[in-house]
Amino acid sequence: MTTTTGKSSVPDEVRRRRRVIAAAAITALGGLLFGYDTGVVSGALLFLKTNFGGLSSFQEELVTSLLLVGAMAGAILAGRLSDKLGRKRTVLGTALVFIVGVALAAFTPSYPVLLIARIIIGLAVGSASMVVPLYIGEFAPPKVRGGLVSLNQLAITVGILVSYLADYGLSSTANWRLMFGLAAIPAAALFVGMLFQHESPHWLIEQGRDDEARAVLRLLREPDQVEPEIQEVKQIAQTRASARDLLAPAIRPALLTGVALAVFQQITGINTVIYYAPSLLHDAGLGSSSALLANVGIGIVNVGMTIVAIRLLDRTGRRPLLLCGTIGMAVGMFVTAFSFLGGSHLTGASAIAAIVGLVVYTGSFAIGLGPVFWLLIAEIYPLRVRGAAMSVASTANWGANFIVTVSFLTLLGAIGGTGVFLLFGCLTLVALAYFYLKVPETKGRSLQSIERDLRGLPAPPATGRRAA
Ligand code: BGC
Repeated sequence: MTTTTGKSSVPDEVRRRRRVIAAAAITALGGLLFGYDTGVVSGALLFLKTNFGGLSSFQEELVTSLLLVGAMAGAILAGRLSDKLGRKRTVLGTALVFIVGVALAAFTPSYPVLLIARIIIGLAVGSASMVVPLYIGEFAPPKVRGGLVSLNQLAITVGILVSYLADYGLSSTANWRLMFGLAAIPAAALFVGMLFQHESPHWLIEQGRDDEARAVLRLLREPDQVEPEIQEVKQIAQTRASARDLLAPAIRPALLTGVALAVFQQITGINTVIYYAPSLLHDAGLGSSSALLANVGIGIVNVGMTIVAIRLLDRTGRRPLLLCGTIGMAVGMFVTAFSFLGGSHLTGASAIAAIVGLVVYTGSFAIGLGPVFWLLIAEIYPLRVRGAAMSVASTANWGANFIVTVSFLTLLGAIGGTGVFLLFGCLTLVALAYFYLKVPETKGRSLQSIERDLRGLPAPPATGRRAA
């Protein structure tokens, strides 16, 4: 946001920007925990499976997938809590649940307790996955909202990468307890950092606490934007959409778009790469260190392309990145599928082709569908039901993730690498067609104007400046 009011306002503008960035960075620790806790288990399992009298593959699968079940429940609960108790309290509660779950996993005396710990961590991961973009989306000025909300996705990818590195670094001592336990550090930082943050101004307005909202907005927006934003949010809040309205004709398109984006984000195969790439490459004949190295490479590309996306989202808009990224994902999947044509054992050129395919796929996901899904679901829902609607989309995402994750290895056994990746490639083409036809552009628009359009409400009277 540039200053137009002379030199003296420059420090204020800088201060405002810093406050918004600090809030986004602190809450994005929730994203870091999301990435770390979902990524860490692949490496930890290698050492865990010889404990507790030895684990069967089914028991290993349970350790991985119960987190996803917990996340589904966490996303549902957090939607309600964030609408009732506020966004800030929900983030604080989420941080506490993270700490409890992580401590229980690190000090677990038995396998069943570890499963309970994974469910508890899942509750926190699911909650963080919806409340963090929700909070940042309402805190951020529209012009920079895309980049700031997507800091969360960047944090997820950094969390995944850090978990790969932690697994690798601790592998010589086989210290799986510490692999799980390290997550307590960002969880504690999230709790402490959040204590010093303000409640979301939009939620405060929705609660009728205008004075508190005004005080927060004065810290975050240019002075002449505060009142118009309050009026606009109030006008929207007064229309009193209710949870039942999620299915009303005016809201249904947004609900469907969010759920479709959620499901497409998962059924196009991202987590088969994120969770299984090392085992896949190892089984295909690569040495464990090459497989691990390829995995770290995939993690780095994931982070790098997310940074590119953050720089572009508020310039090119969401749609171009989503569409180009999805085309790249399809290309990556087809290249990977063809690399397995000669059978499940990869050699020389086919191993390189598989790695190139997976890298192109992951990089393309990171520039489009990865960040754009979490961003759009923070933008397209009416204020009154935003928490509830985001939790529907997040729960759909975790549910689809669970189904893909638990069925992938069976599917791989049944139809082979070429079959599975062709399937993902074709599903990616279906996703592309859907995005092209249905996904709106939200760049630079106020959340209120996006909502007005989706609900067919009239524009506000043309007095004063609209919240930029
Ligand atoms: C997805 C996760 C995925 C991650 C990979 C997120 O947007 O929701 O399921 O593991 O991206 O970077």
